[in-house]
Amino acid sequence: MTAFAYRAGWFHAEAVSLARVAEAVGTPVYCYAGSVLADGYRAFAAAFAGQDAGICYALKANSNLAVVGTLARLGAGADVVSEGELMRALAAGIPADRIVFSGVGKTRAEMKAALTAGIFQLNVESLPELEALSQVAAGLGVTAPVALRVNPDIDAGTHHKISTGRKENKFGIDIDHAREAYAFAAGLPGVRAVGVAVHIGSQLTSLAPFRAAFKKAAHLVQALRADGHAIDRLDLGGGLGIVYREETPPTPTDYAALVAEATQGLGCRVLLEPGRALVGNAGVLLTRVLYVKTGLHRRFVIVDAAMNDLIRPSLYDAWHGILPVAEPMPGSVAEPFDVVGPVCETGDTFAVQRPLVAPRPGDLMAVLSAGAYGAVMASTYNTRPLVPEVLVDGDRFAVIRPRVDCAALLALDRLPSWLE
Ligand code: LLP
Repeated sequence: MTAFAYRAGWFHAEAVSLARVAEAVGTPVYCYAGSVLADGYRAFAAAFAGQDAGICYALKANSNLAVVGTLARLGAGADVVSEGELMRALAAGIPADRIVFSGVGKTRAEMKAALTAGIFQLNVESLPELEALSQVAAGLGVTAPVALRVNPDIDAGTHHKISTGRKENKFGIDIDHAREAYAFAAGLPGVRAVGVAVHIGSQLTSLAPFRAAFKKAAHLVQALRADGHAIDRLDLGGGLGIVYREETPPTPTDYAALVAEATQGLGCRVLLEPGRALVGNAGVLLTRVLYVKTGLHRRFVIVDAAMNDLIRPSLYDAWHGILPVAEPMPGSVAEPFDVVGPVCETGDTFAVQRPLVAPRPGDLMAVLSAGAYGAVMASTYNTRPLVPEVLVDGDRFAVIRPRVDCAALLALDRLPSWLE
């Protein structure tokens, strides 16, 4: 069964009509299909079954506790990038010894939280960060297990804002200086460098950049061992792309075969940090048409979701499929419309000149492939309440984050004494 499909004239998530969700929860709302999360994780894990590999789900893609909890129950570890994400991973039931802490700028407080929890590994991205971590760990009387994230200077062939592995990007330590960095680490009392980490970008749709990066990382492991370092972990990051439109990303099986080939004979425990590949196509953003406006040059469908709810089209010019929740009659003719939100910015546009069967006010629409980097990137811009989230399981659904009303948002503000 395809989880998201028309059934009896209505677009469904599993056996739940999205019209039912909209009726119960209102719009806009994110709606996730639990079966897609579970099937996606199982397929990914099965692809790596023959390898000594740990799957650390990158919480940044979608950190709702119900989503992380679904993956945790299937055995997922976590890749976190903040103390908040660490708290979420632990709260969702992911054991500390399956958690990796990544990120280019961890605070000392975050390092302390990670070390106190006893996580598996911290991925360090600079020498000053390494020194800080060593001090924090020594202060706690522990030794931090560390991988140094190296920057292999490889173009991931993806949008420039989500490319991370070129030398001009802020991430990692230049691979050409990595050996000096490990020598420096070896002289610090609070860290033990046990691994090499690499992550070159997100939404990669070809294996070639992965191959080039993994090869460089594997060579580095050998060079470091020759230098006398006991390196037995290789963290290959995330980045595997999904289908938004007509992309043909590698399957988890192809990706796993590449990892096997690149790490063959190294004797390393391999870590993977998939985010989007596990959750991207597990969710849609459900929105209602407010108005249809006919301009001189364009026709606009104004919906009740906006860039604050899903920022990917504005930020990365990302293309998301958009379908009406009521299935169009056979033979209906599609015409071009711009689908836009109510926020006061031209960038608040979900689709330009998109062929749609003339939508009418009150119609529901589903913005597809919104499970990754959707709700987590939402803001309250224009004092719009954070968008709620729903998880579907067969014919039932649950609100996994309620809509926060505007009064609660206002209540966060305080007036200084001189304005009271
Ligand atoms: N590991 C590290 C160190 C990362 O920086 C990332 C993503 C991942 C793993 C997970 O990558 P994935 O498997 O999801 O590609 N907001 C952007 C994507 C930003 C990705 C940031 N890093 C978007 O909406 O496309």
